[in-house]
Formats: sequence, C-alpha cells, structure tokens
Amino acid sequence: MSQPIIKDINHVAIIMDGNGRWAEARGLERLEGHMRGARMVKKIVRASKTLGVKNLTLYAFSTENWNRSKKEVSGLMSLFRRYILAESADMLAEGVRMKFIGQRDQLDDKLVSLMNWIEDQTADNTALQLTIALNYGGRDELVRASRKMAVAVQEGQLRPEDITEETVSSFLDTAGTPDPDLVIRTSGEYRTSNFLPWQSSYAEYAFINESWPDFTVALYEQAISNFRARERRFGSVIGK
Ligand code: FPP
Repeated sequence: MSQPIIKDINHVAIIMDGNGRWAEARGLERLEGHMRGARMVKKIVRASKTLGVKNLTLYAFSTENWNRSKKEVSGLMSLFRRYILAESADMLAEGVRMKFIGQRDQLDDKLVSLMNWIEDQTADNTALQLTIALNYGGRDELVRASRKMAVAVQEGQLRPEDITEETVSSFLDTAGTPDPDLVIRTSGEYRTSNFLPWQSSYAEYAFINESWPDFTVALYEQAISNFRARERRFGSVIGK
C-alpha cells in the first residue's frame, strides 16, 4: 500500500466542474454526468481521509445554478437527497462530519430535513469534515453575513470599531472551519466562480484539465503533492 503523501493538509476545496460537458460529449443526458460526478465524490471523500486532509469542501450547487433547466435542477436536488441517504451509514462508520453551507430557504423541505438530520447525526465525528456548498454563492454569503453584523450592531451586541477580519469570518457560513489551503477546479476553466472568495484569499489554486467525472485519486494526490512542493509565503518574506 502506498504511503499517504501528506498528513497535515488542513483544507481542500473543490469546484467539481465539467459534468454536463462530459455527458454531452458522450451523447448522454447532463444528469448522467452529475451521477458519475457523485461516484467521484465518494472516491475523493475516501481518499481525503487516507491523505490526511482534515476538511474537504465541495461546490455542489451555486446560487447561479437555478438558471439551468427545471429537469436538471430537480435531478440534482434528488441526487443530493439520495447521496445523503445512501452515504449516511458510511459517514458514521468512517467518522466523517457532514456540514452544508449556502442558503437553505430556497431548497425543498425534504432536502433541508435530510441536511439537518445528517449534520446532527455526524456532529461528533472528527476524522474528516465534509462540507457541501449547496445553493452557495460567495457574494450572497457576504451579504447575509453583513446583514447579521448590522443586526448585532443595532442590538448593541457589536461595536463597529470592534469589527475585525475574525469578526467577519465568524459571521460567514464557514465559521469555525479553517480557510482552504488548496482550491482545485476541474475541466480546464480558469475561474473561481464565486466559490469561497473571502476564505480563499491565501489559497493555492490547481486547475485540472480533466472533467469532474474523469478526475482520479491519482490526480488528487498529484495536486496535493504539488501544493506541498510550492512555498507558501502569505505575502511575507520566506523564513520570517
Ligand atoms: C458543475 O458541472 C457541476 C455541478 C453544477 C453539479 C455538481 C454535482 C455533483 C458532482 C453531484 C454530486 C454531488 C454531491 C455532493 C453528491 P457542470 O454541469 O457545470 O458542467 P459543464 O460546465 O460541463 O456544464
């Protein structure tokens, strides 16, 4: 068995792009691509544990994705429901904690109940935190956080002069989760698409040409080992 490449990478975030094109190139329905994508999710969750990744965040549905056809949107929602139901036992057995970020208000009640249920069930797990960004948009998250901060100021719980970067972070959906070290995007697009803009200010990016259904554990390991090989300076002088 190969040795884990790294034991201490704190947080990897992935933009799982290219499912639709993968399917269309094969004359299949776009949903078929998402279903293949869901299989890849399972493999990458398992590999993350082996590789010592402590937090994995996956961009599953953006605030912009509502513009897709009704059929594709409802197919994706049903896929998310099935994923939670099918994976709950393994997540419990493997110590995976599951969380969701994004707006829940617009999601259907059945899905929201399952999301709340799996978050509760896995709340004490510590081997890996799997965060799914569902109906998530980075700007939307910042707007919602700003509103919450404004209410806290209005109610006298927060003074404007006391607002720091840490305060802002604590009002985001990701409060309590460390910032991503590495953001991976598949399918050869060089965009960040409103994914964790505040949290990824110092992250490294890896752009992979393969579409998400064609992503592999080997490519994942490679991206992580490339990340380790690069020096991260955080804007300061090396060695300081
Ligand atoms: C982007 O590819 C992918 C999505 C909008 C959906 C991602 C969802 C999954 C991988 C399904 C399983 C997820 C979980 C968490 C169970 P795209 O459709 O935008 O690809 P395209 O750019 O080729 O059209």
